[in-house]
Amino acid sequence: MTVNTLPSADLDLEVLLAHKETIADGVVRLVFRHPAGDQLPPWAPGAHVDLLLRPDIVRQYSLCGDPGDRSVLEVAVLRERAGRGGSAFVHDALRPGDRVRIRGPRNHFPFVPAERYLFIAGGIGITPIVPMVAAADENGADWQLLYGGRSRSSMAFAARLREKYGDRVVLWPQDEAGLPDVRGILRAAVTGTAVYCCGPERLLVAAEEACAVLPDVALHLERFSAKEITGAAAGFDVELTRSGLTLTVPADRSILEVAEDAGVPVLSSCREGVCGTCETPVLAGVPDHRDSLLTGEERAANETMMICVSRSCGRKLVLDL
Ligand code: FES
Repeated sequence: MTVNTLPSADLDLEVLLAHKETIADGVVRLVFRHPAGDQLPPWAPGAHVDLLLRPDIVRQYSLCGDPGDRSVLEVAVLRERAGRGGSAFVHDALRPGDRVRIRGPRNHFPFVPAERYLFIAGGIGITPIVPMVAAADENGADWQLLYGGRSRSSMAFAARLREKYGDRVVLWPQDEAGLPDVRGILRAAVTGTAVYCCGPERLLVAAEEACAVLPDVALHLERFSAKEITGAAAGFDVELTRSGLTLTVPADRSILEVAEDAGVPVLSSCREGVCGTCETPVLAGVPDHRDSLLTGEERAANETMMICVSRSCGRKLVLDL
């Protein structure tokens, strides 16, 4: 995981929106270039960038273009009807020629080498999967993509993927075929398959439950929204070694908020445990992990934590901040 040790200035870049087009119902594709035509930062399949749309609007979007083409960065954005304004801003206000600050790229959904892949995408969850499919195909891996959506017209990249890869891509429009049997599909997965899943929460939960009883199948998930946070919160102390401060975090506030109030420079973006921007090294104490990102292994290692949502199991935590 990328850890929160870089000052934000090292990650910020202004880019130019060179192209914007509608590619499916409620989905626009954005192509960004460097204003001076320079190369853009390198990235690998699974990476995302933060778009700093306005001072109060920062959103994460998966990169869906070709990592080999450093002249552009591409994202696709679904208009979220019940959203908080980020996607509406992208759809309604952002125009070609506008300059936008980006942060990143970061990658919390890395594409690992495997002989066999099963990709499962729901809706706009197809975006990080598009470059993964291309990489798997280029590497000569055995792969299949199951791509579900409300209807064909709502499924971004569907026609292009079918045209390019044929039967390896199974399209599953809900209005024609109902909901896919994710559990059944995963039960049939061959030993050693790497499963990559991105989409709505119910799809991710189905994949998690199915893979829990398949020890030889490695599941990789990316969440776009936070898992429900459960468990009561209690107050605790946090020592920030770089800043030389010890602060009290009350039950109703996050470490991030308390650190910001104390003037500690700390990166953040989603503030709900989804993006990984606030990931911070843990030096002592046991975190109560409440994010939607770290794997079970990473949680058990207790080397880092997302300070926007995670808390402390004991009276004190010591952080490298
Ligand atoms: Fe996104 Fe903490 S700010 S995980």
